[in-house]
Order: sequence, then C-alpha cells, then structure tokens
Amino acid sequence: MNITGIKGMNDILPGEIATWQFLEQEARRIFHSYGFSEIRVPVVEKTELFCRSIGETTDIVEKEMYTFTDKSGNSLTLRPEGTAPVMRSFIEQKLYTQDPVAKLYYLGPMFRYERPQKGRYRQFHQIGVEAIGVDDPKIDAQILAMLCHYFDAVGIHDVELHINSLGCRDCRPAYRQALIGYLEDRLASLCSDCQRRYQTNPLRVLDCKVPTCQEATATAPSMIEHLCAGCDEHFSQVKGYLQNLAIRYTVNTRMVRGLDYYSKTTFEMVTSSLGSQNAVAAGGRYDGLISDLGGPALPGIGFAMGVERLVLMKNSKELPVERLPLFLAAMGQPAGDRAFLLMSALQKQGLCVEMDYTAKSLKAQMRRAGKFGARYVLILGEEELARQVVILRNMDDGSQQELPLGGVEKQLLTLLSNPAPTPAAG
Ligand code: HAM
Repeated sequence: MNITGIKGMNDILPGEIATWQFLEQEARRIFHSYGFSEIRVPVVEKTELFCRSIGETTDIVEKEMYTFTDKSGNSLTLRPEGTAPVMRSFIEQKLYTQDPVAKLYYLGPMFRYERPQKGRYRQFHQIGVEAIGVDDPKIDAQILAMLCHYFDAVGIHDVELHINSLGCRDCRPAYRQALIGYLEDRLASLCSDCQRRYQTNPLRVLDCKVPTCQEATATAPSMIEHLCAGCDEHFSQVKGYLQNLAIRYTVNTRMVRGLDYYSKTTFEMVTSSLGSQNAVAAGGRYDGLISDLGGPALPGIGFAMGVERLVLMKNSKELPVERLPLFLAAMGQPAGDRAFLLMSALQKQGLCVEMDYTAKSLKAQMRRAGKFGARYVLILGEEELARQVVILRNMDDGSQQELPLGGVEKQLLTLLSNPAPTPAAG
C-alpha cells in the first residue's frame, strides 16, 4: 500500500514555488525597510505556553492543538501560531536588555487540527511580525500601513482592512458582564456551542456563524461603546493616523479574535474571494501577554498572514516566468562529454544551463529546450566536434551562428550576462 501524506498537510511543488518565493521575498524586503529583523524559533514548544497565552477556552487550545508526550513525559505542542513562541524567546533570551523595543518577523509552518477545506489546512504557513515595547498608537498605524504596503506590493487588491478595539483589563470585564447579561436573555436562540461557552468566552458568540446566533446577537452591546477613556483615546488616535496615511479601513465592532491575548487594537485583512476562509491576515495588540508569560511589562502588537491564502489569491500566472538562458544539445558520447564539461564550467560561473543527459535525437533535445523556454541552444554534434566548432541557435528568431569551440565559454558568458526580457506567461 502506498504511503500518503497527512490530511490537511500539503506538498508545495516546484510548479507553485515561484509564488511562494515571491511572497516571502517581498515580505523580507518590505519588513526590513520598516526596521524589522527575522527571528526563527522552534516548531515545537511546551504545551503550557499556548494554554497560557492563547487561552484555555479558545477553540485553538480546546480542540485544535497537535499535542503529544515526548519520551521524557513532557507535554509538547506543534506551534499553532507564532506570537507565543516569539514572546517566549524574547523573554527567555532577555532580548529586552539589549533594547526594550524589538521589531521581529518570522516565516514558517503552523499546525492546527481543523477541518480541512479550501484555504484551511492542518499544516499552514504564516508570515508574521511582532513589534514589542511601544504603546504609542503610531506603531499600531505603522503596522497597519506595513500590512497594506505588502498587499499593494504583491498585487493583491481584493482585500479590506477591518479594525476594532477590544479594550483593556480595566474596561473589558464590565463589557463582558454586559454581554453575558444580554446573551442570558437570549439563551434559547443560541446554538449548543454558544450555550456552553457564553459564560467562559462570551465574545466568541459574536463570531459564531450559526444564523440563529447571528440573529440573536444583532443588537448585542459592542466593546467600542464600553471602552475606558484611555482605550477610547488610543483607538481615536490610531484611526487619526490611518486617515493621515490615507489608509482605508472599516470599523467592525463585531470582530473578535480567536486568541485571548488581545487588547485594544485588533484587525483583520479580509477578502470576499476565499469563501468562508475570509481572513488573509489578522492581528492586534497584546499589552498584557509578555508579563503574563513572566517577562517585563512591555506592550506588543503584530499580525500574521496566511501564506496559503495569499497564494490562492495571487494568480501565479501573473508572475514572470523565468526563461532558461542556455540549453546544450549534444549528439554522440564524445560531444556529450565535451558539452557536460562546458555546462559545468558555465554553471560554476553562475549561468543557468541545462542539457539532456541521455543521448536523445536532436529533435527530442530541441523539444526539451523549448519546454525550458531556452533563449539559446548550443548544438554540438560529432561533425561540429571534429571541426572544433559549435552552432548557437537563437530560439526567439531562429537565427544560427557558428562559433569556435575554444573560447566559447567566454563568449557565452558575455552574451548571456545581459538578462533577456521576461514576458508574462499567457
Ligand atoms: P490567527 O488569526 O489565528 O492569528 O491567524 C492569522 C492568519 O493565519 C489567518 O488570518 C489566516 O490567514 C491564517 N490561518 C490561520 N489558520 C489557518 C489554517 N488552518 N489554514 C490556513 N491558514 C490559516 C494568529 O495566529 C496571531 N498569532 C496573529 C498575530 C501576530 N497577532 C499578533 N501578532
């Protein structure tokens, strides 16, 4: 029986890798210009880290974690997200002693045992950023500006920025109580999930997709109306900066996040083009998280983008297809051996060259060169080898020239070091 991959965990094949690399390179380029540095943390952490940060009553911790016991009896979990591991590292490595302000970004796989469907997987990839140590609303606006800059740069335009404020530890408890009171009066209309969780996690009820729950909460009180003066002022300033930066947003008072560590500003970049998996990126402020995990009382804000969702939105056909500069077509073993040496020398000089390793007909080799989109094919048959020449064929206009075999390496390097125009694939 064939061994298959794991449900919800995808192979990323060579045919789609150009889109992935493009999305990753643009993230690195843009994040660097905003002063962010990369951090790499393990994919496995102690289970307790996620329970304490994401929250015991969240769907992620209750149902979705890949948790196992290692051979020493420790409970470990494949990371379901990147914020908690980055904060664990920030605290453990005492990065704050070098500078209390840290701007970090990360790329990598995350794991959640969710029901797989288009845009939702059990292993998925995030590109995330975390800005630690600044509570000024300017950083909230800058993070959002960087997120919008990224979407512009990668050419994904079918998105909308939704923002909200979830208040702080001073104002949220009163709101929570008000919401629980509201829900209690409508318990009969709530789904069984919401009836179970309305006491422990009432905000999640606002996010429930069951129509009766949505109806029942249509007039529910919103956090925005219950913000304390500090949170209200913070949110107003964030909105003011966004307006000054000409960033369009919608205030979505029903937006709650699936992780408990958020406070004040929260946001999602949503799209209508991915069905129910409409969040392409999401994040917010987490001012209490670092101290909750035993670190200094430093605030933080960040976001993570789902790379699979970005890939689905980014039409890979828009990316320029890289053409192969040179294909070597050799006939007969001696010519094949000589072409092999030439290929190795050119590759050492950084030129991208391919050849056929088996002695196929010229026609078959030309077909293969065509598959690579080769700009030039160098033909070396027995007759050419005997005369110490090669034929260089320009694949765009079909013209051919004969060149002396000695010194052809230098000539090819000069000719092919000018990059050819890369037309968009049809
Ligand atoms: P999150 O909303 O759980 O936030 O995930 C962020 C993004 O990851 C989502 O908007 C989505 O694009 C993608 N994503 C989540 N689950 C899946 C899945 N099963 N399959 C495919 N894509 C998925 C966080 O993870 C926070 N750590 C973000 C953050 C960073 N907040 C502050 N800093």
